[in-house]
Amino acid sequence: MTSASAAQSHHGTDLSSVLPRSVARDDRGRLTIAGCSLADVADAAGTPALILDEGELRTSAREYRRAFASRWPGSSVFFASKAFSCSGVIRVFAEEGLGCDVASAGELAVALAGGMPAERILLHGNAKRDVDLAAALKAGVGLIVVDSLDELDRLERLVTRPQRLLLRANPEVSAATHEAMATGHAASKFGLPPEQLREATRRIAGSALLELEGIHAHVGSQIVELEPFERCVEALAGLVDLRELGTVDLGGGLGVRYLPGDPEPPSVEDYAERLIGAARGLLPPGCRIIVEPGRSLVARAGVTVYRVVSVKRASRTFVAVDGGMGDNLEPMMYDTRYEPFVLDANRPHEPCDVVGPHCETGDRLVEHAPLATPAVGDAIVVPMTGAYCYALSNNYNGACRPPVVLCSEGRARIVQRRERIEDLLVRDCDVELAL
Ligand SMILES: Cc1ncc(COP(=O)(O)O)c(C=O)c1O
Repeated sequence: MTSASAAQSHHGTDLSSVLPRSVARDDRGRLTIAGCSLADVADAAGTPALILDEGELRTSAREYRRAFASRWPGSSVFFASKAFSCSGVIRVFAEEGLGCDVASAGELAVALAGGMPAERILLHGNAKRDVDLAAALKAGVGLIVVDSLDELDRLERLVTRPQRLLLRANPEVSAATHEAMATGHAASKFGLPPEQLREATRRIAGSALLELEGIHAHVGSQIVELEPFERCVEALAGLVDLRELGTVDLGGGLGVRYLPGDPEPPSVEDYAERLIGAARGLLPPGCRIIVEPGRSLVARAGVTVYRVVSVKRASRTFVAVDGGMGDNLEPMMYDTRYEPFVLDANRPHEPCDVVGPHCETGDRLVEHAPLATPAVGDAIVVPMTGAYCYALSNNYNGACRPPVVLCSEGRARIVQRRERIEDLLVRDCDVELAL
């Protein structure tokens, strides 16, 4: 069966654009991704479970590498690991030749555990503590992206061997996205204003061990227009002489489609074409261009499967499942909307709110979703949960974080087990502070 018809929901929506490209049905008519029946994976791993198509991750990584390398041979793609800071996922991207960016000593440890070579790691953060900088210096990360003059003081104090740096600029570029995800406008906490860029450049030039390699900017996340990315390149050219730099890091931010009915976002090819097009006249050919995609590398690879715990037909039909804001904060934080469906069900549909077990009315995964007459025990699939869901998962109300399952060629592997109640107690102690 073709994937388009395999992903037809009962009410006629074609879900193929919001599911991994491998989506199909097995000979029993059950939905599969990467050759694994989601029903079988949910039974074996339990629910909720975050299930990823490993092939989709690899395909996305290759698309990015090809799109940029074919236009700019000296380009590198770094996975923004904040989108899915899990060693099993990082390992896939490390194998595909990507680098990765980390935003703390914690993300750095996960990246190293995933086999990412330190040379291909860059450290970000507007408030890096000594512990973050020291861990990065000790590991020998390729680049540190400096985001304040205070950080330069810390680096000078901590550095013991040569370290290459980028300076994060504030490009003062606004992009249409949720305000929490816009990072490149004038009022953003990220990036150095022009006079501090100059000051930082002077100070690095006078340093024995710090070396200025280039500049960085990131306009924000879930951006579905290409024009802000072009303006960012132009803005950087207005701030520094790009011809004198070895590396220009243009951040990430390409948006994805969460609902099948959303307008199609720009492809990675279109994105690369416009970004490199803008860079061409401004950068010397030998300059290295880095991009740092997160969401657009992982979002489509992931689905979350929940189990229905109760169906309450009241003012609305509340379909309460076994996870919610503990494993997916996107709807609460960014108003992200999803198109859930009842797995392998062929029944009349009714509008439902899919809600979680947490003590907040806002703990709602989806509002007014047409679901196939859900019943207790049904499996509900929420597509497009590969980005930022795992990363933002939490223990609110004692929730145990779901396992991460990687599916490939009919086999499924747990790369992070489900959190257990004992895990909620492991940090408990009674230790007197030495005052
Ligand atoms: C510095 C930096 N680079 C890259 C990214 C990745 O963005 P996205 O996941 O939208 O591609 C982020 C996330 O906001 C970021 O802060």
